[in-house]
Amino acid sequence: MTTTRTPLIVGNWKMHKTVAQTAAFVRDVRARTLPYDEVDAVICPPFTALAAAHEALDGCPLGLGAQNMHWADQGPFTGEISPPMLVELGIRWVVIGHSERRALFGELDERINEKVRAALAHGITPIVAVGETEEEHRSGAAVSRVRAQVGAAFAGIPAGDVARCVVAYEPIWAIGTGNADTPSEANALMGEIRTIVPGLEDVRLLYGGSVKPDNVAAFVAQPNIDGGLVGGASLEPASFIALLEEARRGVAI
Ligand code: PGA
Repeated sequence: MTTTRTPLIVGNWKMHKTVAQTAAFVRDVRARTLPYDEVDAVICPPFTALAAAHEALDGCPLGLGAQNMHWADQGPFTGEISPPMLVELGIRWVVIGHSERRALFGELDERINEKVRAALAHGITPIVAVGETEEEHRSGAAVSRVRAQVGAAFAGIPAGDVARCVVAYEPIWAIGTGNADTPSEANALMGEIRTIVPGLEDVRLLYGGSVKPDNVAAFVAQPNIDGGLVGGASLEPASFIALLEEARRGVAI
């Protein structure tokens, strides 16, 4: 890898793990020596487990993130969670615009832009997820789709603030399917991402979509790929630990 960016592995747990299961995961991971000096790592449990995770992680370099948030500080938004509520729980990262939220919960580009602004205003690092559908991929529309999503997510945000973000490229057809993109194709598209708006030139770009311990090194070895946004393979401590170790190995390739 021809960059000085520290690799980043983010575990997106989606709707998995109770409070007790989250505490058990953290206990397990804390009992091991992990390469935190060389790889940054974050887990994103469900909202209900964030407080317990924060407590269990006290003094541990493993970062804590949320999977979503609202853009307003407070208000009549039944069922939503605000940035100050997350800050109170020690949250430093938030996934914004995951394809499941876009497709299943109607999340729109304009709202994603507001969430990115809100996260930045509260000192939370947004991990902005983008990616094309299988049909867009087949028809050669992946780059234009991702360009539109990235452009909308960062519209009007100053370059200095854009530079504080992380972008995750997750082709939808690769999520949860075991059918990951190839590292070289993902790298090519992710190189495009760096050119879309000022400030993205040197941000950390994560690849997501069937990242596993046995393929993460090949992704991280690519010049435009700085880590992974990982669903299924982040749920078990042994697999999560292997992701970190393999990401470290990928840097050296
Ligand atoms: P997956 O999910 O690793 O299970 O494919 C990735 C994601 O949706 O972030």
